[in-house]
Amino acid sequence: MIITLDGPAGAGKSSAARALAARLGWCYIDTGAMYRAVALVALERGLPLDDDAGLAALAEAIRIAFADGRVLVDGRDVSAEIRTERITQATRPVADAPAVRDAMKRLQRRMADGLDVVTEGRDQGSVVFPHADVKVFLTASAEERARRRHREEESRGCDTTLAAVLASQARRDEGDRSRPVGRLEPAADAIVIETDSLSREEVVERLAALVEARRGAGRR
Ligand code: DC
Repeated sequence: MIITLDGPAGAGKSSAARALAARLGWCYIDTGAMYRAVALVALERGLPLDDDAGLAALAEAIRIAFADGRVLVDGRDVSAEIRTERITQATRPVADAPAVRDAMKRLQRRMADGLDVVTEGRDQGSVVFPHADVKVFLTASAEERARRRHREEESRGCDTTLAAVLASQARRDEGDRSRPVGRLEPAADAIVIETDSLSREEVVERLAALVEARRGAGRR
């Protein structure tokens, strides 16, 4: 079975997806981490971030894997490096490149082949897994998403203000919504869950209930 979790930054997708996968004993595919990994290696190799064909070739050539909650590129643990602000910035043009998205789509489908998977990103239900068993679009108000990210950044020791987080989030949202491919929008058949007033546990409960209901429907 496949459950897709899409939505904007700060909606609580990653923590919910990770917890849900652990609870079900399923694989977890963090597709944002995959785009980040390509951006990291592109910077390391001095590849221009506007070289779509070069980036796509790179995405095909490197081996991205997930193991024990870590992100590996050609066997190297890059989990921490891909979360820096520098990589967050560099990931945007990488994720905007249609040829890279195409390579990622193929890779994500190969990764999920024959497995039970929780996959998380922007386009998983709409583009990559249009036949997923359960599609969820997690969202929250801009203020709540910024508050969460600000708390997270503070806990990592970053010195930012809520206003700065809100402003950079608005730029990212606009970019995600307006790009020609991989646009952030719920699949027509996605269930939209608004997480403003829900704890992480409550979100995971709802997701697990949707998977259960789907399994039950499959047995009938
Ligand atoms: O979810 P995240 O912040 O780790 O995502 C990193 C970047 O990759 C962000 O710019 C959105 C983009 N992304 C995407 O375009 N498509 C996906 N399926 C996942 C992430």
